Parts: sequence; structure tokens; C-alpha cells
Amino acid sequence: MELERGLNGRWIHRWTFVLAAAGSAVGLGNIWKFPYVAGENGGGVFVLVYLVCIALVGVPIMLAEAMLGRRGRMSPINTMTYLARESNVSSGWALIGWSGIVAGMLILSFYSVVAGWALHYLLLSLNSAFSQIDAPTAGELFGALLANPGQLIVWHTLFLFITLGIVCAGVVKGLGVAVRTMMPMLLVLLLALFLYSATVGNLTQATHFLFDFNPQDFTWGSVLIALGHAFFTLSLGMGAIMAYGAYLPENTPSLGKMVAAIAVLDTAVAILAGLVIFPIVFANPSIEPGAGPGLLFISLPLAFGSMPLGSFFAAVFFFLILIAALSSSISMIEPTVAWLVERKAWSRIKITAFLGAVIWLLGLGTVFSFNIWQELTLWGRNFFDTLDFITANLMLPLGGLCIAVFVGWIMNKAFIEEEIGDIRHGIYHGWMIVLRYVSPLLLLVVFVMTLVDKLGS
Ligand code: TRP
Repeated sequence: MELERGLNGRWIHRWTFVLAAAGSAVGLGNIWKFPYVAGENGGGVFVLVYLVCIALVGVPIMLAEAMLGRRGRMSPINTMTYLARESNVSSGWALIGWSGIVAGMLILSFYSVVAGWALHYLLLSLNSAFSQIDAPTAGELFGALLANPGQLIVWHTLFLFITLGIVCAGVVKGLGVAVRTMMPMLLVLLLALFLYSATVGNLTQATHFLFDFNPQDFTWGSVLIALGHAFFTLSLGMGAIMAYGAYLPENTPSLGKMVAAIAVLDTAVAILAGLVIFPIVFANPSIEPGAGPGLLFISLPLAFGSMPLGSFFAAVFFFLILIAALSSSISMIEPTVAWLVERKAWSRIKITAFLGAVIWLLGLGTVFSFNIWQELTLWGRNFFDTLDFITANLMLPLGGLCIAVFVGWIMNKAFIEEEIGDIRHGIYHGWMIVLRYVSPLLLLVVFVMTLVDKLGS
């Protein structure tokens, strides 16, 4: 069957691609995870290693994904089938697209539940619910939300509904408009929050926490965390960037520069998020810069509760998390929607509704893992942790590995040069060496180490 290429539309400008990909990259990973992981793993040492991982593995694989997408101009499954045929190799490489579809839907199912918490907290801030609360109350507030499946389902449903609404409206009117509205807003809000946080919070202690070199906290495990996180935060390994690259006009110049800009933006937001959160947390000496969900949903409300204009800025903060999560969630499902659109059996609206139903049901597993299914575990992990582990630690690195190998070793070099011929010679060769040797080796190490580490424990 010959498929029609470019069926899902085009970004109106290549900057929309940069915004969309940056929107996909900037998400809960930057605002929730990066700050506390950096703090826990040796501060400045970790940030440095993380930056090296972004530059050495993240950027090259992102460039590979975007390049593949733009050449194929279809959803990841069909793009990989097409490109494999073009280079006369087995169309089994389309498995990259298949695994991406599964990973994207699994990730969205739990991402939507967590993003739903931000919706709930936005509402709480608007009602000044954090005003002058004490530590036990802040903990109970979060505990009560997690213990209540009905409430979790309401927020999960609402978040998923907004995501599907955007995706349903299509690449130009849905995704394109959404990222052009949300991304500038996100940057402005983040800067405003930074100014607030630097004024009323303890910026000095926060910078020490994030950037001081604490080598005693830095272990080999930290390297793996840095690499894995570089991967997750840039949305690599599942075809999201490939799908977005497919909506670029042919012969767009400077793909390399666009990818670099996306990575810089993503990293800047992660660091800035840390410089927003920790000064606020440290402003209240009784609060521990504790880890995980607690930092955003317990420590932060507690800190906001005793600050000037705290309720207002808490609302701004949770709204920021919401738009960051939304511009990411749309990229998790777009590859699947695009693929079904190309099959032409269903309309885009029917497709989104159907996928939404599947993801919503899957999300119930995550919802219940915090309450009625709490005891239900597989190798010590509940449903939510299992999904997180399977996707972020197994499927994404494996997908990235396959992409690096395909572009580095399999794909016809003439086609690659046709796509990014304007890149400087030295950079091209450096990129190839990274894709052929450095990335696969590093990813393989991460992959094996995670398996040994996690399955062993
Ligand atoms: N990068 C996003 C974050 O940091 C998450 C994300 C969006 C993602 N799309 C993805 C992760 C695709 C892996 C694959 O929160």
C-alpha cells in the first residue's frame, strides 16, 4: 500500500516546530524531577554530568529523530517503514514506531494522573487553601487527595480531556496554536516566579544546594540517573520528536541549530525551576528539601502558605506546571493519532476519542495504585512505579538505541546528507561517531545497569 505523505499537516513556521518540541521536552520532568534529583546527587557535579549527557547523547539522538521524521513525513511507524525500504533494509525497523506508540500511551496514562494533581492544587491555591497551614496539614492535604480515587479520577479525566481536545483540533489549529500560546506564557510566568522567589525566598541557600560540588553524594548510580533523565526530559526514544519533525517543511535549513536551541531551552527551564522552588522551600527553615512528589505538593504549599502574596503565586506556579504538562502530554499521543489518521479508516475526532478511552482506563491503574491497589505490587513496585520503570528505564533507552543504530549504521548516508547537508563537516562527523559508538555504548550500559539494579532489588 502506498501511503500519502504529509497527511497530518505542516507547522506554519519552523519556529513552531522549535516551540512544539521544546514544549514536549519541558514538563514534569524539568519542574518536578530535575531539581530534587540534582540536589540529591551531588548538586553541581550532577548538573555537570547531566549537561554532558544532554550534549553527548541527547542532542545527537534528537537530531537523528527530527531528521528521520522530516525525511519520512509520516507517523513514526510509517516513517520507519518508508525509510527502511528506501535504504533497502528490513521494514522490521518500524518496530521503533510500534514501541513508541505503546510507550507514549503508557506514559500519558500516568502523566495525566500526576498532572491532575496540579489541577487540584491550582484550585486549592485559588481558594487560598494553603494560607498559614502547618506541616501536618500540608501532608494531610496531599494524603487525602491520594486516598480518594473519585477525586483523582475527576482530575485525571479533566486533564486528559484538555489534552485530547488540543490533539483533536489537529497539527495546525490544535498543537500549533497551543504551543505558540503556552510556551511564551510558560517562559514569562517562570521568569516572574523567579523574581518573586529571589525576592522573598532564600536564593543563596538554593544556589548552594543546586550548584555546590558535593562529590560524596555523587555515585555511579548518579551517572545512570543523569543519562536516563537527559533522555526523558528531551522526550527521546519514542518517536515524539520524529512525529513533530515530520511536520517540518522539506529543506528546512539548520535542523542542527533548532535541535540545539530546544536542548538549551529545556535545560534552562530545568535549572530555573530549581531556582524558583528551592529559594521558596529554604525560606522556611523548618521545611526539608525532601524528595519526590512531596517537594511540589507538600513542601511548596507549606512554604507558600506563610509568604506574602503566597496564594496568588502558588496559583501561578501550579498553572505553570499545568501548561508545561499539557504541552508535553499532547506529544505523547500525537504519533499514535497521526498513524491512525494515515490509515484513513477513522476521522481524527473518532481516533482521539477511542485512544482517550483506552488511556483513561489505563490511568485508573495509576489512580488505584495510590489507594485501593496500594498493596498490589510486582517486584516491589505498584502499578504506577511499574509503568514508570517499564517506559522510562526500558522502552525509551531501547528506542533511542535503535534510532542511533539505524541512523549511524543502517540508513543510506546519501539520504542523511540530503537532509542535513547544511551542517558543518566536522559537526557531521562528530555526530556520526556519537551515533555509531558513544550513544549505543552509553545506552547499553544504562540499560544493563538498570536491569541489574532494579530487578536485583
Ligand atoms: N519530556 C517530558 C518531561 O520532561 C516528558 C515527555 C513528553 C516525554 N513526551 C515524552 C518523555 C516522550 C519521553 C517520551 O516531563
